[in-house]
Amino acid sequence: MITRIIGTGSSLPSNLVTNDDLSKIMDTSDEWISSRTGIKERRLAKEETTASMAAEASRKALENAGISAEEIDLIIVGTITGDYVTPSTSCEIQAKLGAVNAVAFDVNAACSGFMFALHTAHIYLQSGIYKTALIIGAETLSKIMDWNDRSTCVLFGDGAGAAIVRAYAQARNEKGGLLAFEQGSDGAKGKVLACRDRVNNNPLIQNPLEPGYVSMDGQEVYKFAVGTVPASIIKVLEMSELKTEDIKYFVLHQANIRIIQSVAKRLKVSEEKFPLSLDHCGNISAASVPILLDEMNRKGMLKAGDKIVMSGFGAGLTWGTAVIEW
Ligand code: UT7
Repeated sequence: MITRIIGTGSSLPSNLVTNDDLSKIMDTSDEWISSRTGIKERRLAKEETTASMAAEASRKALENAGISAEEIDLIIVGTITGDYVTPSTSCEIQAKLGAVNAVAFDVNAACSGFMFALHTAHIYLQSGIYKTALIIGAETLSKIMDWNDRSTCVLFGDGAGAAIVRAYAQARNEKGGLLAFEQGSDGAKGKVLACRDRVNNNPLIQNPLEPGYVSMDGQEVYKFAVGTVPASIIKVLEMSELKTEDIKYFVLHQANIRIIQSVAKRLKVSEEKFPLSLDHCGNISAASVPILLDEMNRKGMLKAGDKIVMSGFGAGLTWGTAVIEW
């Protein structure tokens, strides 16, 4: 079986917030944010929710793939900011789309969430259990930010990206689609980027803690990313017997321009092969990779036969990388 991405879609909130807008409500500046991160603006949800953006991205991906919602066998959403603890965002999407034949569940892998969803769908498709999957990364990160902590809240945005993946029978020796993937976790370092959920306040406990907001040791996350991501990319290239020269684009999680520049340098690859959306989106965790992929797809940047590396990395700590032939 070959697992191919056959359609993409994305959705951003309508409300645009520039660095200058932020500088009017907190002690920050366009100069600080742009020079350290490459971010110039982001979209923050007002009316939109994680599920509404995920559903819009999914409808566009279905249209792009030219298939109906009834053809979807599997829905996996990567998110840490669902609208409900339960039902899952994927079950909400199933209902919104009328994807009555699908099984639906979420994965919690933060900025690696879309990649983990892709890899999980790939395994189901390869095994022959399912034929067509809808995978999504969707986040409303603005609701878990501490808006008094300028070192984190300026970095993140809201949005959703989706892709349709389908299994195709493979002719003898034929290659294509998802060629190799690699993923990992380092839970021992989880506290460097964390957000506590609601605390237990049952009648046996008098717990003074409130639900938490995102806290981050930025420099530790930076070190993790610039060490792990190039190593993960080298692994998938070795697994698929490819070299960096064979890769048209490296579609990385859009956390920070400096991380992307450092990965490019370590791989000895031109930065031109690393497309960006962080300038206008900020960091949207699980949604970053599929939103960028959709932007590239709609600009006509992806041609049949192009080899592309995709990599997500972040809280958990987690990372996931795949090489695909478009
Ligand atoms: O999905 C993964 C997400 N995580 C990441 O991408 C994080 C990776 N880390 C980074 O990109 C960088 O660590 C940051 C961009 C987050 C921070 O850059 P830094 O050079 O490590 O800054 P810092 O935290 O050491 O802070 C430097 C200064 C501090 O002031 P003092 O103590 O030197 O006077 C901060 O208080 O910058 C100050 N600062 C700000 N100033 C203006 C922190 N946030 C801001 C801000 N505006 N928004």
